[in-house]
Amino acid sequence: MGRVRIKKEAKDYLQNSIYFLNTKDKYQDFTKKSNKIWLEIGHGKGKFISKLALNNLDAKLIGIEKIATIQEKAVKKVEKLELTNVRFILADINNLKNWFTDSSIEKIFINFPDPWPKKKHYKRRLLTKELLLYYYQILEEEGRIFIKTDQRELFDYVLINLKTKELKQKFFISEKTVDLHQLTDEKIIKTEYEEKFLDLEKPIYYLEISKNKL
Ligand SMILES: C[S@@+](CC[C@H](N)C(=O)[O-])C[C@H]1O[C@@H](n2cnc3c(N)ncnc32)[C@H](O)[C@@H]1O
Repeated sequence: MGRVRIKKEAKDYLQNSIYFLNTKDKYQDFTKKSNKIWLEIGHGKGKFISKLALNNLDAKLIGIEKIATIQEKAVKKVEKLELTNVRFILADINNLKNWFTDSSIEKIFINFPDPWPKKKHYKRRLLTKELLLYYYQILEEEGRIFIKTDQRELFDYVLINLKTKELKQKFFISEKTVDLHQLTDEKIIKTEYEEKFLDLEKPIYYLEISKNKL
């Protein structure tokens, strides 16, 4: 089976799933009346979003992922759990700028984003200044972003972005650690990548930033 065929099959699967949001109207319909809208951007195979949804049935969770074959795996996980509070959008976050209403999102989770180590590729990162400003715009007043990475360089890149003149008055760091699992990891919902890095005994860098001082 060729890659194109696999991709087409994944897209067909998603299109036929009740968990799939392919229009802004469907997104608005799903999230209306909710003041707890949470996004996971680049959710990968879905271990984190499915557990988070299961533990927070009063929140509406939206998974955003740009690769259909990966999103299909996440959708299958929530189908198995028969969750009603989670939906998925197949897209690059950069193409969803007109989807989310300003000040409407309570939490954004970005777990192990691709590091794009070469400078000429920094613009593809999920934590560029431009995207952080966009997240600021859509977050509600008490809104927060939760970031995990195994990459020290990416972690420092975010901290530097947060200190720039465009962002320094906007976000406050409410939690910052260079070894998330050092003390206790019982309550931490782990992603597929996180489990891989923990097996390799790599430290996990963690950052929680809020739109207003909590
Ligand atoms: C390194 S993986 C991590 C997956 C998962 N969060 C985890 O921790 O196991 C990064 C994921 O982000 C997705 N991704 C990268 N850039 C994206 C973008 N601009 N919009 C949506 N998804 C993106 C990739 O397709 C990939 O599945």
